[in-house]
Amino acid sequence: MYWCALILILILSSSSLATSAHKRTKICIPINPMNITNCKKLLTLGAELGWNIHNETHIDILFTIPISMDDTPKWVAWGVNPRRKRPRMIGTRAIIAISQANGTLKVSRYNITSDTKLGCRLQPLQPSIEFEDVVVQNMTGDVKPNRYMSIFATLILRPDLAAYDIARLNHVWQVGYEADEVALEPKMHPTALQNVDSTETTNLYSWKGISIEHRRHHLRTVHGILNIVGWGTLLPFGVIIARYLRRYPFHCTHWFLSHVSCQIVGYILGTIGWAIGIWLGHASKEYHFHTHNILAMFIFAFTTLQMIALRLRPTPIDDFRKYWDMYHHFLGYALLAVIILNIFHGIAILKPDKTWLCAYIGTLAVLASITLGLEIYTWCKFMNSKMKKPNTSGEVQPVPSS
Ligand SMILES: *[C@@H]1O[C@H](CO)[C@@H](O)[C@H](O)[C@H]1NC(C)=O
Ligand SMILES: *[C@@H]1O[C@H](CO)[C@@H](O)[C@H](O)[C@H]1NC(C)=O
Repeated sequence: MYWCALILILILSSSSLATSAHKRTKICIPINPMNITNCKKLLTLGAELGWNIHNETHIDILFTIPISMDDTPKWVAWGVNPRRKRPRMIGTRAIIAISQANGTLKVSRYNITSDTKLGCRLQPLQPSIEFEDVVVQNMTGDVKPNRYMSIFATLILRPDLAAYDIARLNHVWQVGYEADEVALEPKMHPTALQNVDSTETTNLYSWKGISIEHRRHHLRTVHGILNIVGWGTLLPFGVIIARYLRRYPFHCTHWFLSHVSCQIVGYILGTIGWAIGIWLGHASKEYHFHTHNILAMFIFAFTTLQMIALRLRPTPIDDFRKYWDMYHHFLGYALLAVIILNIFHGIAILKPDKTWLCAYIGTLAVLASITLGLEIYTWCKFMNSKMKKPNTSGEVQPVPSS
């Protein structure tokens, strides 16, 4: 019981840390030749956006993407969408930097249309042609191997059209790994969740993200944390309590209460996380995570069955009880395996920053070492008692419970 509360507090506090890391930082751009004064981390791909506001229709933009030795995109893109639209790929006035054989970036403007989405070649605008509603000047691209790729530009939003509102700027960003560097044609980008979700609406005055994408992003975080804590940590911990404190090697009178409270709290948290996950699945129509969904349904159905056991299990004197115990234990272990699998699957879908994976592997390592320690202790105790008292009378020895 107390253990469960402790774990809960630990994980809740680490989650609040994780969300506070998203707050604004004064300047996040590695080098700043353009004297950018505002900067914020974007929702996906590790991207950051810096800007200076000269007046309502005149802004400087510095967009950066972190790169590493084994993850260097061939092109990076940033663009704006007119304010009457949602932030999305089609309709974007994009600035795309394509990396060249000599290690530099070549930056051009691109008009992203529905044809682009259908797979038509994306060609740069001729220098003489302007977008109807925004003039792009001073485009430059910069790359520092193993550190970042960046795009700088000045945007002059045509005031007579009022197509953009920097208090609600729709913008999108992207990276891709294939391009025709001579013809300056970027090719299809990856279709992982991070690449599909790389859009937001930002108030450049207050730095606030104000789009549905932000809410969805936060809900994904909550979904992940609840399921990792509920299903992925408390349920296994409750199993350890039942296995080692029930009879052998330790007999704690309160083992049942601890086991049940751990499982109830874990079940409730996990189920809330599961319900949020279902909602998220419905909200992102273009994306389906079949394996993740099916495993989640399986987990929910069978953890519910395990919880019902609290009311419906046979009494200890029932003949049937022995088989019921075997079934309850077997299902419990199978569920743990599926839960752990699905959590790793979920982390692979979300691709959050590395701390998530490390945190969960760390949690599992702690649980595994507790289990291993107790298992070794159980066998030592069992062997000891066997040697001290040779079994001549045929009486039943205590065996490690399974
Ligand atoms: C940035 O600020 C420095 C020092 O204030 C100045 O020397 C430099 O010219 C500025 N650069 C730009 C692009 O405004
Ligand atoms: C960009 O594409 C849209 C939609 O096809 C079109 O109406 C517009 O004229 C294009 N703009 C430029 C500058 O090519």
